[in-house]
Amino acid sequence: MTRRFRLVGGLLLACALAGGALAHGDVQPQPVDTGGLDGLGSEWRGENPYRGNAKAVAIGDSGYNQNCARCHGLQVVSGGLAPDLRYLPTGKEGDEYFVERVRHGAIINGMTKMPAFEGVLSQEALWAIRTYIEAKHEE
Ligand code: HEC
Repeated sequence: MTRRFRLVGGLLLACALAGGALAHGDVQPQPVDTGGLDGLGSEWRGENPYRGNAKAVAIGDSGYNQNCARCHGLQVVSGGLAPDLRYLPTGKEGDEYFVERVRHGAIINGMTKMPAFEGVLSQEALWAIRTYIEAKHEE
């Protein structure tokens, strides 16, 4: 009796672990405190309003490492699971591309490779993350 219980318990644990590992895209997003940054309203900007803002870099550092790093790598150094964002173009060109991708995510052949962040993280949080990523830019 006890043995069977242990077996079932073990299976349940194994399933929970596998489920956790597989549900990679479903991890709860972490809220980002953007206090201290100018509010941006609901209209999406095409260009980063915080470029070069040290406070935005600090907020973006924490926002990125909590919400993006599990796929794109800690400190913006990709482990190969998702593109290395250090190589995104700088300036307005990179901004436009960034905001499109981050708002809508990446759904490829019906599979969510990257979740959409619109409505999940605020515009302020996403531009702070962009500011941090740009500060880590490499050619
Ligand atoms: C669940 C994993 C996952 C998470 C979390 C994630 N991404 Fe992604 N991201 C991807 C994948 C995979 C791609 C590549 C999709 C493709 O093949 O087009 C991608 C692509 C991108 C791109 C386009 C890169 C390029 O070179 O084309 C940007 C920008 C980006 N992600 C930013 C972010 C930001 C910012 C966050 C956090 C707010 C984030 N991602 C969170 C997996 C993720």
